[in-house]
Amino acid sequence: MSRDLNSPFRTKTVEQSIRDTEEPEHALRKSLSAWDLTVFGVGVIIGTGIFVLTGIAARNNAGPATALAFVAAGIVCALAALCYAEFASTVPVAGSAYTFSFASIGEVPAWIIGWDLVLEFALGTAVVAVGWSGYVRHLLHTNLGWDMPLALSGREEGATFDLLAFLLVVALTAILIVGTKLSARITAIVVAIKVTVVLLVIVAGLFFIKADNYSPFIPPAKPQPAGGGWDAPLVQELFGYAPTNFGVMGIFTAASLVFFAFIGFDVVATAAEETRNPQRDMPRGILGSLLICTVLYVAVTLVVTGMQHYTQMSPSAPLAEAFKSVNQPFFSGAISLGASVGLITVSMILLLGQTRVFFAMSRDGLLPRFFSVTHPKYRTPYRATILLGGLIAVLAGFISLGELAELVNIGTLFAFVVVALGVIILRRTRPDLHRSFRTPWVPVIPILSILSSLWLMMNLPTETWARFGIWMALGFVVYSFYGVWHSRLGREEAGAPGSAAGAPGTADPLKKTPPPGE
Ligand code: ALA
Repeated sequence: MSRDLNSPFRTKTVEQSIRDTEEPEHALRKSLSAWDLTVFGVGVIIGTGIFVLTGIAARNNAGPATALAFVAAGIVCALAALCYAEFASTVPVAGSAYTFSFASIGEVPAWIIGWDLVLEFALGTAVVAVGWSGYVRHLLHTNLGWDMPLALSGREEGATFDLLAFLLVVALTAILIVGTKLSARITAIVVAIKVTVVLLVIVAGLFFIKADNYSPFIPPAKPQPAGGGWDAPLVQELFGYAPTNFGVMGIFTAASLVFFAFIGFDVVATAAEETRNPQRDMPRGILGSLLICTVLYVAVTLVVTGMQHYTQMSPSAPLAEAFKSVNQPFFSGAISLGASVGLITVSMILLLGQTRVFFAMSRDGLLPRFFSVTHPKYRTPYRATILLGGLIAVLAGFISLGELAELVNIGTLFAFVVVALGVIILRRTRPDLHRSFRTPWVPVIPILSILSSLWLMMNLPTETWARFGIWMALGFVVYSFYGVWHSRLGREEAGAPGSAAGAPGTADPLKKTPPPGE
């Protein structure tokens, strides 16, 4: 087999990935069980998606058929989860899709995916923090009659700064520095509250369903205002037909939006390195949390679109408003409270995923190694956490929700494509590796995962594609000027062959020798 030392497609072996985690000053504590992972998954999966986006999708894109949109998005995620589970159980190292692609496809694709995940998690954290802030202001207003000063009430209210969202991210950053176990404990309590609220919506709501609200279940297609343009899904622009809302195509547009509600199962994979028995527990954690959430989402959507006609649904607090519309203020208040509490864990786990990807990239030298030194007492990557937590807090203070959720979605779907490709490639290049969980029917399932992810991506607005393109272009600039020269793998490979020394990190990456061929 020939190995090109200068190749940006150089891969890090799986053994090397695992060995890196064993260096004491770069090691994370292994403390999570399958149960912790499932709680962790449910903790991040149920959030703004079901609490807020359900209303927007039902109102604008799919009506009661939003339940089908959740099924479609759930299928895309299940296919991806089968691929994630194989990778996570084979390469149990922090960094999720980033690490997986480094071990299978190569450094440049790994960089792309890492950069992409930074976008997903950073913006996701900020989006959820802003959504949380809105719910808290709503609670303060309705229960205490107290309003935040307008200037600090967030972009949605026309102000310039969202103080609550900012403070939330700062507080979560401090919690994550102290350690995963503590945050997992807090998560467990909050997850219990959140699941209770969701079950409350389903059970109590059943009594208020009116069959009339389901008719039509799939509202007829309507032309988009002003013909769509940048706002139209890419697939409609590409194939040149008039962009529409609702109808069967509307279900897919809704699916590409409510997909946000499933983001998080992939974050479970980022905690692989901190799991006691990743080979057994990762697949259980990922698939278990995904299944629980899909069932809950479909049930909640069927209930709320049955309680209130889709044209009347609230775009900001649809679950609480559905109960208000049937004169049940107690349930409405309880749901708002549960949502406010629940969104905290979502934001926290996204922030955790974000710092772990950054940590892994830094440990590989693609970002400064300074950030991958763990705290001497807490064993957490505190430097990366402080840097990213600070940036995201500022971002949460200044951004408005809107299209950002779609930008998060496109990044995540792109990561799914790379992971599925990785499964196929690693099966060919390393058939010998022990895989405690094997994706069934390879390459059929990974190919279906790639196609279905691409299909949802194409249902996102053209504008989202443009923003994503700009972010990725920026990533290439950073890689070209930093990562390619400082890559630990590049340095090790350059020093290794034919060199007596061959010590990692001793070679000058600017003077890489030509490949000897092996
Ligand atoms: N799935 C998470 C949410 O719905 C990100 O908020």
